[in-house]
Amino acid sequence: MLVTGGAGFIGANFVQHTLRNHPTYDITVLDALTYAGDRRALEPVADRVRFVHGDICDTDLVDRLVAECDVVVHFAAESHVDNSLHDPAPFVRTNVTGTFTLLEAVRRHDRRYHHVSTDEVFGDLALDAEQKFTEETRYDPSSPYSATKAASDMLVRAWVRSYGVRATLSNCANNYGPYQHVEKFIPRQVTNLLVGARPKLYGAGLNVREWTHVEDHNDAVHAILERGRIGETYLIGSGDERSNREILELVLEVMGQPRDAYEHVSDRPGHDLRYANDSTKLRTELGWRPSYVELRAGLADTVDWYRANEWWWKPHKERTEARYRSLGR
Ligand code: NAD
Ligand code: DAU
Repeated sequence: MLVTGGAGFIGANFVQHTLRNHPTYDITVLDALTYAGDRRALEPVADRVRFVHGDICDTDLVDRLVAECDVVVHFAAESHVDNSLHDPAPFVRTNVTGTFTLLEAVRRHDRRYHHVSTDEVFGDLALDAEQKFTEETRYDPSSPYSATKAASDMLVRAWVRSYGVRATLSNCANNYGPYQHVEKFIPRQVTNLLVGARPKLYGAGLNVREWTHVEDHNDAVHAILERGRIGETYLIGSGDERSNREILELVLEVMGQPRDAYEHVSDRPGHDLRYANDSTKLRTELGWRPSYVELRAGLADTVDWYRANEWWWKPHKERTEARYRSLGR
């Protein structure tokens, strides 16, 4: 199995999850080790994984690695919305050209391919709507990040239809869990509290996200790899929707702090209001169910992980906060 982006948050958890639950897989990780990649996230399985430091836009390298594998699981991406608003160029390169490069190699060598994507490709929902995203929802991305992920999904669909590439796609809601970069909402607030800084809430904090534990996401990817229908898209989500303010208050409570011990900062331009996935297809067709059904318990585990693993996140913290300061957030 070739795993791209295996030194990032979800990819590293996926590699560890795979070796724990499917120990016969022989895994190669391809990762460029951008600011978001950290090889130390693979330390627990370092002796069981081949790590290749390289770029998914490198045609020759990708061709060689794809030729050697049976299945490609593609996580590598520029993944942070705030960064995409500031400098969209790497997003177009990695998310679009990188996916194109992988698809061409997969086409040449007729390999099974799974494409990891996001619910952000659908745009956003009204805060008070009953509606959720489904596999039929029209694409309507808002940010440079989501536009490039939408473009990559479209490439995959076209390569399935035009060339018969054996691909599946998944669009997951917001993830949380260990090894998530400190630029993201939950780890940023947890590590702020751990270093004695105040958490930062964008705007009024009313925007809603659906929170899915990274283990449940990766379990769904395996269900799709094993039983998913070629050419199909599956939406992944726990069903647990919360406003950012609720999440922050929960983090503060879990960490024994007053519920109002945070500050409001300027909002993200074009900030999507609400994401929510209808994951009925994944549940009924493939029998997937989230195992993290108690968000508070999952958050408490995550807080414990950040408390115990300062060695992993501390080297990223100062630079991340310096970047946020320059953006006024
Ligand atoms: P991440 O930013 O933590 O990790 C991305 C990884 O990709 C890093 O290790 C980085 O070094 C690597 N990478 C970046 N550019 C590369 C390139 N050109 N060549 C090779 N490697 C490169 O991201 P994540 O949060 O783990 O997200 C993984 C995937 O899941 C992405 O495709 C993202 O769109 C999708 N996704 C994320 C979430 C979420 O909540 N984090 C939810 C749904 C979908
Ligand atoms: O829905 C899936 C997407 O979830 C993935 O495709 C993206 O890769 C992933 O980054 C995530 O996108 P979001 O923009 O929703 O995640 P982020 O962690 O950046 O922010 C979550 C919410 O919290 C969002 O409404 C902005 C808000 N926020 C974020 C930060 C960093 C704050 O209020 N304060 C903050 O400090």
